[in-house]
Amino acid sequence: MKPRVWLDMDPGIDDAWALLLAMNQSIITGVSTVAGNASLENTYANARQLLEIAGGQDVPLIPGALGPLLTPLVRAEEFHGQGGLGEWSIPSEVIPPELPRVWSWWSMHSEELKSTHLIATGPLTNIAISLLAYPLLSNIWASVTCMGGALPGAQTDKAQEFNVYSDPHAADIVFHWGTRVQLIGINVAHKAVILLEDLDRLSGMGQVGHMLGKMLQFYSKRALGEGGNPEGFPVDDVVAVAAVVKPSIFQWREMPLAVVREGPLRGTVVLSPIDVRRPSVRVAVDVDIAAFRKWLWEAMDHYRSEPLKN
Ligand code: RIB
Ligand code: CA
Repeated sequence: MKPRVWLDMDPGIDDAWALLLAMNQSIITGVSTVAGNASLENTYANARQLLEIAGGQDVPLIPGALGPLLTPLVRAEEFHGQGGLGEWSIPSEVIPPELPRVWSWWSMHSEELKSTHLIATGPLTNIAISLLAYPLLSNIWASVTCMGGALPGAQTDKAQEFNVYSDPHAADIVFHWGTRVQLIGINVAHKAVILLEDLDRLSGMGQVGHMLGKMLQFYSKRALGEGGNPEGFPVDDVVAVAAVVKPSIFQWREMPLAVVREGPLRGTVVLSPIDVRRPSVRVAVDVDIAAFRKWLWEAMDHYRSEPLKN
């Protein structure tokens, strides 16, 4: 049975792949975007085109926050390009100011969202605002899977992960107030790398394969070797989708988390001090890499428009 999911994201090239996979691995009840890899106007326009190309024109697309709660917007142009999708440039969209933002939309539709899995692959600003404005929303989601940070104390190739570093206050609020939160950090996301040699499989997948191939040409040049495999590159947000549709390929541990909000360690995920009551977060501590790759390419075969050459 396919899980019902809501994607809160900042497309972003790995967000784009995550959305394309969620399109055939789950039932997408809606997509919201947040400023992160690119501006809100870019991430919103990017999500709209990705949904159209993947046949999701009727999926609700709702805008979120223009930037982090308290820190200036930090975009990731080096990995995702100025518009957010590498050389696949799409004009940004002016978002009508009267359009409801996603935290209001979630509150107005909370009944129908029950049993939906929220997957966050950008900064956690939208979710933090929703919890501050409508605390009962923390009980509607079947789970809240966040791509960000790292298992406290884990050896990782990066000291700060982009999503949690961009909005550390939002991440700390989600770990404090959110129940049924699970975390996919770079300690596992940077193990589940995509092999460069596998990108040839995208040919024969029509417009989706062509578009994704162009984006990954840009992204792989910049991310190749992240996580330590010189033949591969991480697609962090895709791992967050796998965590919801294929949780058994991960190993998990429960612990209360907090986030360092200021100073040289800003964005570091730490064990919450025991004197502060927080719900435990389910943190991914390991992943079966072969099982992840098998799931991913079997899922992508749904886009194959030509029969597999034997
Ligand atoms: O650190 C990886 C995360 O930051 C991913 O979500 C990527 O899209 C960027 O937003
Ligand atoms: Ca992202």
